[in-house]
Amino acid sequence: TPAPRGVLARYREWLALPAGLPEVSLGEGDTPLLRVPSIERALGLRAPLFVKVEGQNPTGSFKDRGMTVAVSLAAHRGRKAVVCASTGNTAASAAAYAARAGLEALVVLPEGAVAGGKLAQAIACGARVAQVDGNFDQALALVREMASRLEVELVNSVNPARLEGQKTAAFEVCDVLGEAPAYLAIPVGNAGNITAYWMGFTQYHEAGRISSRPIMLGFQAEGAAPLVLGRPVSRPETVATAIRIGRPASWQGAIRARDESGGVIAAVSDRAILEAQQELAQREGIFCEPASAASVAGVAQLARAGYFRDASRPIVCVLTGSGLKDPDRAARMGRPGQVVRVTSRLEEVAALLGATVP
Ligand code: F0G
Repeated sequence: TPAPRGVLARYREWLALPAGLPEVSLGEGDTPLLRVPSIERALGLRAPLFVKVEGQNPTGSFKDRGMTVAVSLAAHRGRKAVVCASTGNTAASAAAYAARAGLEALVVLPEGAVAGGKLAQAIACGARVAQVDGNFDQALALVREMASRLEVELVNSVNPARLEGQKTAAFEVCDVLGEAPAYLAIPVGNAGNITAYWMGFTQYHEAGRISSRPIMLGFQAEGAAPLVLGRPVSRPETVATAIRIGRPASWQGAIRARDESGGVIAAVSDRAILEAQQELAQREGIFCEPASAASVAGVAQLARAGYFRDASRPIVCVLTGSGLKDPDRAARMGRPGQVVRVTSRLEEVAALLGATVP
């Protein structure tokens, strides 16, 4: 028999779940933790820098860790449908896990502000897609009200099952490193994930699995940085559409993670986000979506300010989603002359490498 796959199979005893829960899994979790030496060098870091490649989950984002738990519980409770608001990844994940469980999915999305790959995933997996003339925060308010009045399972991260599943990423980081990292850097939108990581580190610490918890570094996009400003943003704007959120539901969880760990929540510019995305792809071959690159952009910003001067133990950046989610933006990353038209003559193609055919 193959080794168990999926976060329920691997971490069940660490999750607060009812007995006899059926497992709706697509084999999520166990994602690579990769060292990125060229970025380390570029930033002049003494500490090893790692990225946790969450884009390698079944639907291409970390949402799958939480969705396996939330949809398993929905099935267990006899629900017929799951609903969520989403900037795209939650919708793609909900659609896939609902299909797997034989449940209906309804996803409410901000019209015109969701990356093409995510929308394609939700449609392909058969979800009902409702596009609203509004942003994520308004869509979330709508589905919260819907779930309070109807017998449907809300699978946004306001559902505690989502955070239970997502905390397994913190367990994995510690299991691979053999200790907690010194720093954990993460993009922050609705703030569920930073809350879940902190829960995971705290649980491992209390169980004696790690001797200390990491310093938590959360990064928001400049135009969507309510936690940095200390107040909601009514019209969030950023190229990183996944984190285009002005009123994070897990506000308190993010602040607690920051303050209990002695960490920082800071803003990074869209330009820095796109630069980090490109650096990761071109120097290391790791292609993540823009929102994910906010963690690396944030670490770069702090590194330049001397923040890691005395750091010697690991820094881990969470890369939350795959670059394939947003193919249109990625295609625009090309440099002039990188993509050319050719005839089918060998000489012409060889010349692109500066070679002449003998
Ligand atoms: N990175 C990506 C790729 C995301 O899709 C999200 C959130 C985040 C980071 C931020 O995580 O909300 O827990 O702070 N995406 C949600 C969605 C909002 O609908 O897919 P968070």
